[in-house]
Amino acid sequence: MKTVTLSTLQAYKQAGETFSCLTAYDASFAHAASQAGIDVLLVGDSLGMVLQGHNSTLPVTMEDIIYHTRCAARGKGHSLLMVDLPFMSNISTERLLVDAGALMRAGAELVKLEGEAWMAEGIRELTRRGVPVCAHLGLTPQTVHQLGGYKVQGRDAANAERIINDAKVLADAGASVILLECVPASLGKAVTDALDVPVIGIGAGPDTDGQILVMHDVLGVTHGRTPRFVKNFMAEADSIQTAFQHYHESVKNRTFPAPEHCF
Ligand code: KIV
Repeated sequence: MKTVTLSTLQAYKQAGETFSCLTAYDASFAHAASQAGIDVLLVGDSLGMVLQGHNSTLPVTMEDIIYHTRCAARGKGHSLLMVDLPFMSNISTERLLVDAGALMRAGAELVKLEGEAWMAEGIRELTRRGVPVCAHLGLTPQTVHQLGGYKVQGRDAANAERIINDAKVLADAGASVILLECVPASLGKAVTDALDVPVIGIGAGPDTDGQILVMHDVLGVTHGRTPRFVKNFMAEADSIQTAFQHYHESVKNRTFPAPEHCF
């Protein structure tokens, strides 16, 4: 399989083809996902919830992320490896640069950060130094307490407009990819249409350039309430490999997400 780079994602966008993304936190699952054809792997700070059992991503440390990045990097195969900057890495631009540098040294090929238009300066400084950035908008789990829970964002016109504007500002600042979480499908489409850079969606409807899910959700092993945008691909598969393949194919042929997964 051909190595996936940012140019590959850009080419997919230009060709109107979707791409698949999945979280992975260790070498074995990264290898299985890559073998299944997944384009982008994310060492997400969701590891705080699905691996460590916390009820949010806030307790995840740089040490945790670096450990899992090193593990996933050894199994990533042809897939592009994206890695999350943890809560409070954005305390200053200097901290952001130091933390992003550490993630790149551990094996990240693209760093993901949460934040709105005010993150533009940090993104400009990172990209100036050769660190590609994915900006995460919409439902940003690191601000869950401020948001008052894991809720759909951008439902009203003013908030939808703000998210579109934030995405434009961050793309102009140098973000190579935008990730949109938990927004109405109409907003997912509006942001995707408004930008030249690829947009990855999770609970953002069928029209974003790429789709991402948390691996544990794809395998149906998440405990507690699962969000509407999740599909358990293990339900009709006889192996983890097959479940990953079905997820990848469903994204590529746009049968996932279906209307029941959208807001
Ligand atoms: O941490 C994570 O897994 C994420 C995805 C939900 C996109 O940010």
